[in-house]
Amino acid sequence: MQTDSSFTFVLFGGTGDLSMRKILPALYEAHRAGGMLADSGKIVAVARHIADRAAYIDWVNEHVKPHVSKNGVDETAWASFLDRIEFVKIDLGNPEDFTLLRDALSGRPGIRVFYLATGPSLFVPICRALASVGLNENSRIVLEKPLGYDLKSSNAINDAVGEIFAEEQIYRIDHYLGKEPVQNLLALRFGNVLFEPLWRREWVESIQITIAEELGVEARGDFYDNTGALRDMVQNHLLQLLSIVAMEPPHSMDSDSVRDEKLRVLRALKPIDPRDIGKVAVRGQYHAGVIRGSAVPAYATEPGVKQDSNTETFVAVKVEIENWRWAGVPFFLRTGKRLADRVAEIVVNFRAVPHSALGASASRGGANRLVIRLQPNETIRLYCLAKQPGEGMNLASVHLDLAFDRFFREGQMEAYQRLLLDVINGRLALFVRRDEQEAAWRWVEPILNEWATANKPPKPYAAGTWGPAAASAMLAQHGTCWLEEEN
Ligand code: BG6
Repeated sequence: MQTDSSFTFVLFGGTGDLSMRKILPALYEAHRAGGMLADSGKIVAVARHIADRAAYIDWVNEHVKPHVSKNGVDETAWASFLDRIEFVKIDLGNPEDFTLLRDALSGRPGIRVFYLATGPSLFVPICRALASVGLNENSRIVLEKPLGYDLKSSNAINDAVGEIFAEEQIYRIDHYLGKEPVQNLLALRFGNVLFEPLWRREWVESIQITIAEELGVEARGDFYDNTGALRDMVQNHLLQLLSIVAMEPPHSMDSDSVRDEKLRVLRALKPIDPRDIGKVAVRGQYHAGVIRGSAVPAYATEPGVKQDSNTETFVAVKVEIENWRWAGVPFFLRTGKRLADRVAEIVVNFRAVPHSALGASASRGGANRLVIRLQPNETIRLYCLAKQPGEGMNLASVHLDLAFDRFFREGQMEAYQRLLLDVINGRLALFVRRDEQEAAWRWVEPILNEWATANKPPKPYAAGTWGPAAASAMLAQHGTCWLEEEN
């Protein structure tokens, strides 16, 4: 992945959490790898509370360095990485300050990337200020989630940004799309003949997509309490994963072919009747509990969270897709904070054989199953039945493993690194188009509205468990269970 095109990467929110943990470490990794970033490419950080470049570099050394390279920092590469960084002090509340940015960028070669690692309330003012000094030309803009709070506010941001930047200039980031196994899912489905014929209602019984976290809300209690798991994870990451799992084969991998197919899935999601929400969606909130031997506090006592908060930290929802391929197949989506494990995976449960000549053990559903694990380790595991050695014909579950780190010892890339390189190189396929985002909001809104109107407390679950029992009951109604409940 070589780039010979120069760029200037302007980072708004240059001292924020995301810049510290993800964006600057990802740019460092791309720099360290060599050949991925043009030598002349520069990073221009923008912040208000820092006096000058020297102070910003001190901040980067103190706060960003601990987050780079699990295998230690390459000091030479780090020093040359710092040479790429420049700094402009801007008060985002003061549009006149943007002339400083214009002057700092004037005469530079190549594309300008504006990365808005700020709260969404600043997206429109920043875009307008950029336009007022002519910086919306020859540029790309990256918008971080959350992009709005609901369909209306997301439309308002998209309308306003769309007046300044064309859709092809806008990169809406969903970092789950940059994860290697998500790419591999596309390779698996569309690069092989094995799976695609089975990837449909005739052969698939149900699909589960789980993103479970052990972490709580960390320092983001205030933000999270106004957001909740449905907006934070389902509207974006989970529905994006769902659309990749369920999409039709695209004509090519160009950005609009892929995004058109994902959009078709999002538009085919069966709308949830508000009267059914209790049956198809479960919301929970964690109470105090124990995770890996350590006591953790209840959500309602986290800093920034209202004591009587009704915000959900867990969601499980049954989704159906109204098209020829998937009619009648339940997709169970689930996410939560402070769960028993940190795991993100997609589980495809195939149907049982139509007739078992080999006894009852061969006729159960889920005997054939594909588990695509996104994290913590990246593996794809295919479960089959095989004969146990010895007398008789007793079947047992065995699995074929594809562990990427064993096959490909080099070249693994973090999601942010891949996505930032895509922005710099003008590849839009892994970014969310406006119509996809709208379709996703349209589908979640009735749930949000119903929960807001009913104003009932979410179901409690102890931290360190797999969420409220109702999430298991929902699957039991379909004769299935979550993967960790097997056996
Ligand atoms: C973010 C959410 O988008 O994704 C966070 O806002 C969440 O609440 C995070 O913790 C999870 O991402 P990952 O890559 O750590 O699974």
